[in-house]
Amino acid sequence: ATTLGAAAQQSGRYFGTAVAAGRLGDSTYTGILNREFDMVTAENEMKMDATEPNQNQFSYGNGDRILNQARNQGKRVRGHALAWHSQQPGWMQNMSGTALRNAMLNHVTQVATYYRGKIYAWDVVNEAFADGSSGGRRDSNLQRTGNDWIEAAFRAARAADPGAKLCYNDYNTDDWSHAKTQGVYRMVQDFKSRGVPIDCVGFQSHFNSQSPVPSNYQTTLQNFANLGVDVQITELDIEGSGSSQASNYDRVTRACLAVTRCTGITVWGIRDTDSWRASGTPLLFDGNGNKKAAYTSVLNAL
Ligand code: XIL
Repeated sequence: ATTLGAAAQQSGRYFGTAVAAGRLGDSTYTGILNREFDMVTAENEMKMDATEPNQNQFSYGNGDRILNQARNQGKRVRGHALAWHSQQPGWMQNMSGTALRNAMLNHVTQVATYYRGKIYAWDVVNEAFADGSSGGRRDSNLQRTGNDWIEAAFRAARAADPGAKLCYNDYNTDDWSHAKTQGVYRMVQDFKSRGVPIDCVGFQSHFNSQSPVPSNYQTTLQNFANLGVDVQITELDIEGSGSSQASNYDRVTRACLAVTRCTGITVWGIRDTDSWRASGTPLLFDGNGNKKAAYTSVLNAL
């Protein structure tokens, strides 16, 4: 195969990218998008602040632009993200208690219903666990509504779109020895044992020198898969350049391919200049849209 998407399909997987609606008019960007990727995630356009800027007034224009562009090109879409402590609309940031719980559940229900049948997998809850050694939940307005807010969000999402896979998505959960990884693992184990609807776990996998690709990355993916969920690499970027960056991309790709239930990989942007990272060159294409060594190593590993 000569493209990332076609190469991933050889093993029944997908290869996706984050897409920004504001870049769809850039023909270099769209050319690479259409050619290389078979899964799309809206980088910001399906988040809570974008889709419900005023309470109970929903706004789907930019999300639809990305979704329709992808679907017209035969690509699938990952939904990101229904409930998160970050990028909440202003009206939600100051809410608490039952009012916030109900607003969050209404948001999950409305957005998942609007997109019903069109989303391969939803990141139902994003980044709900704390960094550091506690292994517990992150403090947030949503967490303060009660520890069961995550399962409530998953149940609402299942009711709204029974055909979408429902994922929990987080970062710094790649190292099996990390307390945060263990905390998420125990939550997924608990959800599976009690029948809370969860189908997948997303590993953002934003790697850099402070947070390198862990040696036990494949073990982490496999241990989660062994709980009976799919695993997906959802926001991959790796700081660096040249052959060292290429070898890290190779390791991540091979780790996914070695885990039967690792269903796909998404990179968090197309060209280095599209990256959310303030500096650096973490992606597979350079600023001119040329394939980097990292691209070739991924294509060869798939
Ligand atoms: C980032 C986007 O890439 C930026 O454009 C935006 O300013 C902030 O959010 N974890 C996530 C993603 O789940 O939604 C974040 O995306 C990156 C970290």
